Amino acid sequence: MLSVYDAILARIALQAGVNCLLVGDSVAMVLYGYESTIFATVEMMAAHVSAARRGSPKTFLVADLPFGTFRRGLKPAMKAVETLVRAGASAVKLEGVSGNEKIIVHIVESGIPVMGHLGLTPQSVLGLGGYKVQGGTPESAHRLIDDAKRLEDLGAFSLVLECASRAVGTKISTNISIPVIGIGAGVGVDGQVLVASDLLGFSNGPTPRFVRKYLDGETLVANAFGEFLQDIENGDYPSDSESYE
Ligand code: KIV
Repeated sequence: MLSVYDAILARIALQAGVNCLLVGDSVAMVLYGYESTIFATVEMMAAHVSAARRGSPKTFLVADLPFGTFRRGLKPAMKAVETLVRAGASAVKLEGVSGNEKIIVHIVESGIPVMGHLGLTPQSVLGLGGYKVQGGTPESAHRLIDDAKRLEDLGAFSLVLECASRAVGTKISTNISIPVIGIGAGVGVDGQVLVASDLLGFSNGPTPRFVRKYLDGETLVANAFGEFLQDIENGDYPSDSESYE
């Protein structure tokens, strides 16, 4: 699974055989430069869901329900779900389980698949005291395992587990029957997700240890831009073949 926000990367992910796309609320940080995902809005998400959908018309596509939208009651939550589904989402993802039980059941019973998100839930970063590995004590590990079971019982079809130890990831994955998609949760889960721009190397700060960079995108793009400027300054661009007679 890959978190993408636009038609270009959705199309390339499709060509590469990626099974599932996520339009994550990380878009607020990655593309809009905000400090956290809490700045994502339904309108922002819907624009990126429809862009990714146009790039990959048939791929299963999960959209994040942005911060706040599913805590204001059933009606506003369903409005957000409707907007994202009409924009092209095949399913919605929402963070946490406590206090969300009713809305999860309601969305599932409305016919929309729900993916859970446990562990490091970035929308609660203020309450969690920062971006930290979760489930580090026996009590918090048990809470995570219980939450995963509850999500399954509430009807979630899958869940993302972010930033938990390999042992906790494996334990959750073996304790429940829905697929656990890990991000920084070790190799013992059922699938893996990364933010596409992270694995492509488009990040100008330190990245979490679970990010494997498959490309140094930042350097490659900076070099390409630099060459473009150089070619213009040298009079090499545009050439005859790049000009109209
Ligand atoms: O917002 C996002 O891209 C996500 C992934 C990191 C799982 O939730």
